[in-house]
Amino acid sequence: MTDFPAEISSLGYVVLGVKDFDAWTVFARDILGFQVCEREDDQSLALRMDERLQRVVLEKNDADDLLEAGWEFDTEEQLTRYVEQLRAYGTRVEQASAEECRRRSVETLYCCDDPNGFRHGFYYGPWIALMSDGFRSTVMRGAGFETGVLGLGHIVTRSADAKKTIEFYRSGLGLKISDYIRADVIPGKTFDVTFMHTASGRHHSLATGELPGEKLLGHLMVQVKDMNDVGLAYDRCLAAGLPIVMHLGHHPNDQMFSFYVRSPSGFAIEYGHGGIVIDDATWKVTTYSRLSDWGHQRGEPPRG
Ligand SMILES: [Fe+2]
Repeated sequence: MTDFPAEISSLGYVVLGVKDFDAWTVFARDILGFQVCEREDDQSLALRMDERLQRVVLEKNDADDLLEAGWEFDTEEQLTRYVEQLRAYGTRVEQASAEECRRRSVETLYCCDDPNGFRHGFYYGPWIALMSDGFRSTVMRGAGFETGVLGLGHIVTRSADAKKTIEFYRSGLGLKISDYIRADVIPGKTFDVTFMHTASGRHHSLATGELPGEKLLGHLMVQVKDMNDVGLAYDRCLAAGLPIVMHLGHHPNDQMFSFYVRSPSGFAIEYGHGGIVIDDATWKVTTYSRLSDWGHQRGEPPRG
């Protein structure tokens, strides 16, 4: 049960500020299997993963980092009640203009700042492509990305003050704790990450900790329906000579089989299959002492 009458359904979109559109176009389309669509302003690219007009928005920006996490609600009523809750918590929430809604391809959007410097968007009514313009990947062989009610995937972010940030995510945003990983990954450096989920139950939509590095975004995870598409993407990364941050492996908490590749912006993309879905009625929060059951051998470090 929850104290939040209105809950976020899923992580519906992310906005990444990136420098190099050409490198990202090739990486997203030919390596990861997204469909890349240019927007009319040439300042942004829309990456499609399904019937939505966009799931990952690339905006031209020198930050090479996360700009916005877009949280989806099923109905306008849920969204309105949620915004009231968030304001009652003491958070400054602004309603976005019609132009901003158009850029995010949603019906109604509200925004607030994250304690770490990116923005949270809260919306309902995502825009859908016509049937004649169905999602097409030039490289994927299976049934596509695992999105739908579970949202686009997950993000792992760096918090300057993890305790304060997690308190805001739980009590302000209403995210629920999935579990914790506290592991000595490198001698003397503890990987201490808190994993959180939304109502639709993808094991985590957001995880955070005081992780080494400068960027807000540690990695963005996208999940595919066919395990073979993970292997095929891994082979494409190796063939293209891309820096593998962590080789194929398996996480003990979300059960994800995945690898991590460094994106043209420096942060990593996790490409995975098999992540579990949480049922809050039976879920118990646990702590893990290892990042991986097997594999995930370290390769090139992320940049920044
Ligand atoms: Fe991940």
